[in-house]
Amino acid sequence: MKIVKTIAEVRAQVKEWRAQGLTVGLVPTMGYLHEGHASLIDASHRDNDRTVVSDFVNPMQFGPTEDLESYPRDIDHDAALVEAHGGDLIFHPEPEEMYHDGFSSFVDMTVLTQELCGLSRPVHFRGVCTVVSKLFNIVKPDRAYFGKKDAQQLAVIRHMVDDLNMDIEIIGCPIIREADGLAKSSRNTYLSEAERKAALVLSKSIFLGMDMVKKGESNCSAIIGSMKKLIEAEPLARIDYVKIVDCATMQQITTLDRPALCAIAVYIGSTRLIDNFFTEDV
Ligand code: PAF
Repeated sequence: MKIVKTIAEVRAQVKEWRAQGLTVGLVPTMGYLHEGHASLIDASHRDNDRTVVSDFVNPMQFGPTEDLESYPRDIDHDAALVEAHGGDLIFHPEPEEMYHDGFSSFVDMTVLTQELCGLSRPVHFRGVCTVVSKLFNIVKPDRAYFGKKDAQQLAVIRHMVDDLNMDIEIIGCPIIREADGLAKSSRNTYLSEAERKAALVLSKSIFLGMDMVKKGESNCSAIIGSMKKLIEAEPLARIDYVKIVDCATMQQITTLDRPALCAIAVYIGSTRLIDNFFTEDV
């Protein structure tokens, strides 16, 4: 397993693999890897001959008041995890390698990005689409792997690949949870002990919503209302949103009459966490 910092090195390695007729999977990450990322690397290792993991905290997807500086980083830990899960190459560039002086081209998307996280994080998806497009152009993978925890991101990337005719298969992988239900996230490390306990309201409300759907509830405000009530009972929690949207368009719906995504974003203290379920997975 190799770690490289330049685009030229990634291209040279992938070219060598292609010359041998090997397939390549890409797992884009911002590092500080956990079991959620490990499951993406496992999936890529299963489906492809070689796996590239990008490890880059992308400044472009953070707003001015967000946690770019404090976002956790640990390349040695990441390297050990990638190696243990069969990854072959880590691309770990400096910001200047990805965004040279005078960088001024962006991939921007309307509609899908104007709901859910896009409302509270206005520059986020432009940064995600731009960096993911760049990674796709650098690695030119056969397949790329993304977690379903970032459900809107997954939908946005699928849409971008379709709109821009990118010849890459996008694979969405299930949410990985802690034993007590909390969805794995690099941002969980920000939580104090009391906040870590309080953060369980996210998964509890997700499980409550899933249960209501399983029992046949199709009225979205009834589901959202019950989930909100549960979260609001936790003093350390502040709701950003609890919404049910059409899976394809990310626009809000009132009745569960099509494949839908129930997504939540909740501040626990100053840490913003997300979780979700797809009605099709219930
Ligand atoms: O999901 C993430 O970690 C990031 O948004 C991604 C896809 C690696 C782009 O920076």
